[in-house]
Amino acid sequence: MRIAHLSDFHFTKLTLNPLRLFPKRFFGHINWCIRRRKEFNHQQLSDLPDFFRMLKVDWILFGGDFTSSSLTEEFKLARNWVDQMPVPWIAVPGNHDFYTRGSARRFYKYFDPLRIQPIGNNWWVVPIDTSCTNPIRSARGLFSNQAELKKQLSEINGNVILLNHYPFFQQESVDRNLQGGEKLEELIREHPNVKLYLHGHTHRHSMVDLQEDNLPIILDSGSCSLKKGSWNLIDLTTASCNITPYFWENGWTTKETKEFLWKR
Ligand SMILES: [Fe+2]
Ligand SMILES: [Fe+2]
Repeated sequence: MRIAHLSDFHFTKLTLNPLRLFPKRFFGHINWCIRRRKEFNHQQLSDLPDFFRMLKVDWILFGGDFTSSSLTEEFKLARNWVDQMPVPWIAVPGNHDFYTRGSARRFYKYFDPLRIQPIGNNWWVVPIDTSCTNPIRSARGLFSNQAELKKQLSEINGNVILLNHYPFFQQESVDRNLQGGEKLEELIREHPNVKLYLHGHTHRHSMVDLQEDNLPIILDSGSCSLKKGSWNLIDLTTASCNITPYFWENGWTTKETKEFLWKR
Protein backbone atom coordinates (compact mmCIF):
# COMPACT_ATOMS: atom_id res chain seq x y z
CA MET A 1 0.00 0.00 0.00
CA ARG A 2 1.55 3.28 -1.11
CA ILE A 3 0.30 6.65 0.15
CA ALA A 4 1.35 10.24 -0.55
CA HIS A 5 0.80 12.70 2.30
CA LEU A 6 0.97 16.40 1.49
CA SER A 7 -0.30 19.60 3.06
CA ASP A 8 -0.36 23.39 3.24
CA PHE A 9 -0.73 24.41 -0.40
CA HIS A 10 -1.99 27.93 0.26
CA PHE A 11 -3.37 28.72 -3.19
CA THR A 12 -3.66 32.50 -3.18
CA LYS A 13 -5.72 35.17 -4.92
CA LEU A 14 -5.87 38.75 -3.75
CA THR A 15 -9.01 40.86 -3.62
CA LEU A 16 -9.45 44.63 -3.56
CA ASN A 17 -13.13 44.43 -2.69
CA PRO A 18 -13.38 46.15 0.72
CA LEU A 19 -16.39 44.03 1.67
CA ARG A 20 -14.31 40.87 1.26
CA LEU A 21 -11.09 42.42 2.51
CA PHE A 22 -11.97 43.73 5.95
CA PRO A 23 -11.08 43.07 8.61
CA LYS A 24 -9.06 39.85 8.67
CA ARG A 25 -8.15 39.41 4.99
CA PHE A 26 -6.61 42.87 4.95
CA PHE A 27 -3.89 41.72 7.35
CA GLY A 28 -3.62 38.35 5.62
CA HIS A 29 -3.05 40.05 2.25
CA ILE A 30 -0.39 42.36 3.70
CA ASN A 31 1.37 39.34 5.21
CA TRP A 32 1.21 37.58 1.83
CA CYS A 33 2.63 40.57 -0.09
CA ILE A 34 5.42 41.36 2.36
CA ARG A 35 6.53 37.92 3.47
CA ARG A 36 4.76 34.85 2.18
CA ARG A 37 4.76 35.58 -1.57
CA LYS A 38 8.57 35.24 -1.59
CA GLU A 39 8.40 31.93 0.26
CA PHE A 40 5.97 30.01 -1.97
CA ASN A 41 6.15 28.61 -5.50
CA HIS A 42 2.93 27.03 -6.70
CA GLN A 43 4.50 25.96 -10.02
CA GLN A 44 6.10 23.01 -8.27
CA LEU A 45 2.66 21.54 -7.53
CA SER A 46 1.91 21.03 -11.21
CA ASP A 47 4.39 18.15 -11.55
CA LEU A 48 2.81 16.11 -8.78
CA PRO A 49 -0.15 14.37 -10.52
CA ASP A 50 2.19 12.78 -13.11
CA PHE A 51 4.77 12.10 -10.44
CA PHE A 52 2.22 10.18 -8.34
CA ARG A 53 1.17 8.24 -11.44
CA MET A 54 4.78 7.30 -12.08
CA LEU A 55 5.32 6.26 -8.43
CA LYS A 56 2.17 4.11 -8.53
CA VAL A 57 0.67 5.77 -5.48
CA ASP A 58 -2.56 4.11 -4.26
CA TRP A 59 -4.01 6.94 -2.13
CA ILE A 60 -3.32 10.65 -1.57
CA LEU A 61 -3.98 12.26 1.81
CA PHE A 62 -4.29 16.06 1.90
CA GLY A 63 -3.66 17.80 5.23
CA GLY A 64 -5.45 21.12 4.68
CA ASP A 65 -4.63 24.81 4.26
CA PHE A 66 -5.60 24.59 0.60
CA THR A 67 -6.14 28.36 0.52
CA SER A 68 -4.67 31.49 2.07
CA SER A 69 -7.84 33.32 3.02
CA SER A 70 -10.74 31.01 1.99
CA LEU A 71 -11.68 33.04 -1.08
CA THR A 72 -13.89 31.22 -3.59
CA GLU A 73 -11.25 31.78 -6.29
CA GLU A 74 -8.61 30.08 -4.10
CA PHE A 75 -10.84 27.05 -3.47
CA LYS A 76 -11.43 26.78 -7.23
CA LEU A 77 -7.69 26.77 -7.92
CA ALA A 78 -7.17 24.15 -5.22
CA ARG A 79 -9.99 21.90 -6.39
CA ASN A 80 -8.87 22.14 -10.04
CA TRP A 81 -5.45 20.91 -9.01
CA VAL A 82 -6.83 18.15 -6.77
CA ASP A 83 -9.05 16.97 -9.65
CA GLN A 84 -5.90 16.18 -11.64
CA MET A 85 -4.85 13.51 -9.14
CA PRO A 86 -4.70 10.06 -10.73
CA VAL A 87 -5.88 8.09 -7.67
CA PRO A 88 -8.46 8.42 -4.85
CA TRP A 89 -7.78 11.03 -2.19
CA ILE A 90 -9.00 12.23 1.20
CA ALA A 91 -8.81 15.86 2.35
CA VAL A 92 -9.16 17.63 5.70
CA PRO A 93 -9.43 21.42 6.08
CA GLY A 94 -6.87 23.69 7.72
CA ASN A 95 -7.30 26.96 9.58
CA HIS A 96 -6.72 28.98 6.38
CA ASP A 97 -9.73 27.19 4.86
CA PHE A 98 -11.94 28.61 7.64
CA TYR A 99 -10.39 32.03 7.43
CA THR A 100 -13.35 34.30 8.11
CA ARG A 101 -16.74 33.73 9.70
CA GLY A 102 -18.42 34.37 6.35
CA SER A 103 -16.33 31.69 4.60
CA ALA A 104 -16.23 29.18 7.44
CA ARG A 105 -18.19 26.42 5.68
CA ARG A 106 -16.93 27.15 2.16
CA PHE A 107 -14.43 24.27 2.32
CA TYR A 108 -17.33 21.80 2.28
CA LYS A 109 -18.71 23.34 -0.92
CA TYR A 110 -15.55 22.20 -2.70
CA PHE A 111 -14.61 19.09 -0.72
CA ASP A 112 -16.69 16.15 0.53
CA PRO A 113 -17.75 15.81 4.16
CA LEU A 114 -15.24 13.82 6.18
CA ARG A 115 -15.91 10.13 6.66
CA ILE A 116 -13.96 7.08 7.71
CA GLN A 117 -12.44 5.45 4.65
CA PRO A 118 -11.19 1.86 4.33
CA ILE A 119 -8.17 1.93 2.02
CA GLY A 120 -7.41 -1.79 1.81
CA ASN A 121 -5.16 -4.38 3.53
CA ASN A 122 -6.92 -3.79 6.88
CA TRP A 123 -6.05 -0.07 6.90
CA TRP A 124 -8.50 2.75 7.62
CA VAL A 125 -8.10 6.49 7.31
CA VAL A 126 -9.90 8.53 9.96
CA PRO A 127 -9.92 12.20 8.88
CA ILE A 128 -10.70 14.79 11.57
CA ASP A 129 -11.64 18.44 11.27
CA THR A 130 -10.13 20.53 14.08
CA SER A 131 -10.05 23.86 12.23
CA CYS A 132 -12.09 26.84 13.26
CA THR A 133 -12.44 30.53 12.53
CA ASN A 134 -10.00 32.64 14.52
CA PRO A 135 -9.53 36.30 15.38
CA ILE A 136 -6.89 38.33 13.53
CA ARG A 137 -3.34 37.01 14.11
CA SER A 138 -4.55 33.73 15.58
CA ALA A 139 -4.26 30.32 13.91
CA ARG A 140 -5.57 28.04 16.61
CA GLY A 141 -7.47 24.81 16.17
CA LEU A 142 -10.02 23.13 18.41
CA PHE A 143 -10.47 19.45 19.20
CA SER A 144 -13.84 19.06 20.88
CA ASN A 145 -15.54 15.95 19.48
CA GLN A 146 -13.82 13.49 21.79
CA ALA A 147 -16.84 11.18 22.22
CA GLU A 148 -17.39 10.85 18.47
CA LEU A 149 -13.75 10.04 17.70
CA LYS A 150 -13.59 7.58 20.61
CA LYS A 151 -16.60 5.73 19.19
CA GLN A 152 -15.12 5.71 15.69
CA LEU A 153 -11.73 4.38 16.83
CA SER A 154 -13.33 1.73 19.05
CA GLU A 155 -15.45 0.42 16.19
CA ILE A 156 -12.59 -0.02 13.73
CA ASN A 157 -11.17 -3.51 13.81
CA GLY A 158 -8.00 -2.68 11.90
CA ASN A 159 -5.07 -0.28 11.60
CA VAL A 160 -5.80 3.43 11.63
CA ILE A 161 -4.15 6.42 10.01
CA LEU A 162 -5.39 9.55 11.78
CA LEU A 163 -5.33 12.52 9.39
CA ASN A 164 -5.53 16.00 10.89
CA HIS A 165 -4.31 19.49 10.00
CA TYR A 166 -2.87 20.20 13.44
CA PRO A 167 -0.28 18.39 15.52
CA PHE A 168 -1.74 17.39 18.90
CA PHE A 169 1.35 18.47 20.83
CA GLN A 170 1.83 22.08 21.83
CA GLN A 171 3.88 24.41 19.69
CA GLU A 172 6.11 27.31 20.62
CA SER A 173 3.36 29.83 19.92
CA VAL A 174 0.06 29.52 21.83
CA ASP A 175 -1.68 31.26 18.93
CA ARG A 176 -0.91 28.33 16.61
CA ASN A 177 -1.85 25.49 18.97
CA LEU A 178 -4.60 22.90 18.87
CA GLN A 179 -6.82 23.59 21.86
CA GLY A 180 -7.79 20.25 23.39
CA GLY A 181 -4.65 18.66 21.96
CA GLU A 182 -4.01 16.85 25.26
CA LYS A 183 -7.44 15.18 25.01
CA LEU A 184 -6.62 14.01 21.51
CA GLU A 185 -3.28 12.65 22.74
CA GLU A 186 -5.03 10.77 25.56
CA LEU A 187 -7.49 9.24 23.12
CA ILE A 188 -4.69 8.14 20.78
CA ARG A 189 -2.87 6.49 23.70
CA GLU A 190 -6.04 4.54 24.55
CA HIS A 191 -6.33 3.22 20.99
CA PRO A 192 -3.23 1.33 19.90
CA ASN A 193 -4.81 0.66 16.51
CA VAL A 194 -3.83 4.25 15.64
CA LYS A 195 -0.52 3.46 13.97
CA LEU A 196 0.13 6.71 12.13
CA TYR A 197 -0.74 10.32 12.92
CA LEU A 198 -0.38 12.59 9.87
CA HIS A 199 -0.52 16.37 10.10
CA GLY A 200 0.68 19.63 8.57
CA HIS A 201 0.19 23.24 9.75
CA THR A 202 3.74 23.86 11.01
CA HIS A 203 5.28 24.02 7.49
CA ARG A 204 8.21 22.04 8.93
CA HIS A 205 8.89 18.49 7.82
CA SER A 206 9.39 15.93 10.61
CA MET A 207 9.21 12.20 11.30
CA VAL A 208 8.99 11.01 14.89
CA ASP A 209 8.52 7.46 16.14
CA LEU A 210 6.80 7.63 19.54
CA GLN A 211 5.75 3.98 19.72
CA GLU A 212 7.95 3.39 22.78
CA ASP A 213 5.80 6.04 24.55
CA ASN A 214 2.58 4.31 23.47
CA LEU A 215 1.92 6.86 20.74
CA PRO A 216 1.97 6.39 16.95
CA ILE A 217 4.56 7.30 14.37
CA ILE A 218 3.96 11.02 13.78
CA LEU A 219 4.62 12.54 10.38
CA ASP A 220 4.53 16.22 9.48
CA SER A 221 4.61 16.51 5.69
CA GLY A 222 5.73 20.15 5.80
CA SER A 223 4.29 22.53 3.21
CA CYS A 224 4.19 21.24 -0.34
CA SER A 225 4.27 24.62 -2.06
CA LEU A 226 7.01 26.33 -0.07
CA LYS A 227 10.13 26.94 -2.18
CA LYS A 228 11.83 24.43 0.11
CA GLY A 229 8.66 22.34 0.08
CA SER A 230 8.23 18.74 1.17
CA TRP A 231 5.83 15.80 1.32
CA ASN A 232 6.03 12.14 2.30
CA LEU A 233 5.68 8.90 0.40
CA ILE A 234 4.52 6.19 2.82
CA ASP A 235 4.79 2.46 2.10
CA LEU A 236 2.82 0.27 4.50
CA THR A 237 3.74 -3.39 4.96
CA THR A 238 2.68 -5.86 7.66
CA ALA A 239 6.03 -5.42 9.45
CA SER A 240 6.94 -1.80 8.85
CA CYS A 241 6.23 1.66 7.62
CA ASN A 242 8.76 3.00 5.12
CA ILE A 243 8.86 6.75 4.72
CA THR A 244 10.47 8.46 1.74
CA PRO A 245 10.48 12.25 2.17
CA TYR A 246 10.55 14.32 -1.01
CA PHE A 247 11.96 17.86 -1.06
CA TRP A 248 11.83 20.49 -3.79
CA GLU A 249 15.29 21.19 -5.24
CA ASN A 250 14.55 22.29 -8.82
CA GLY A 251 12.45 19.12 -8.96
CA TRP A 252 11.05 16.65 -6.45
CA THR A 253 14.01 14.72 -5.09
CA THR A 254 14.65 12.29 -2.27
CA LYS A 255 17.78 11.08 -0.55
CA GLU A 256 16.71 8.14 1.58
CA THR A 257 13.90 5.91 2.79
CA LYS A 258 13.54 5.45 6.52
CA GLU A 259 12.11 2.22 7.89
CA PHE A 260 10.02 2.17 11.08
CA LEU A 261 9.08 -1.28 12.43
CA TRP A 262 5.60 -1.60 13.93
CA LYS A 263 5.90 -1.91 17.70
CA ARG A 264 2.67 -0.56 19.11
FE1 LIG B 1 -0.32 26.36 6.49
FE1 LIG C 1 -2.44 25.83 9.27
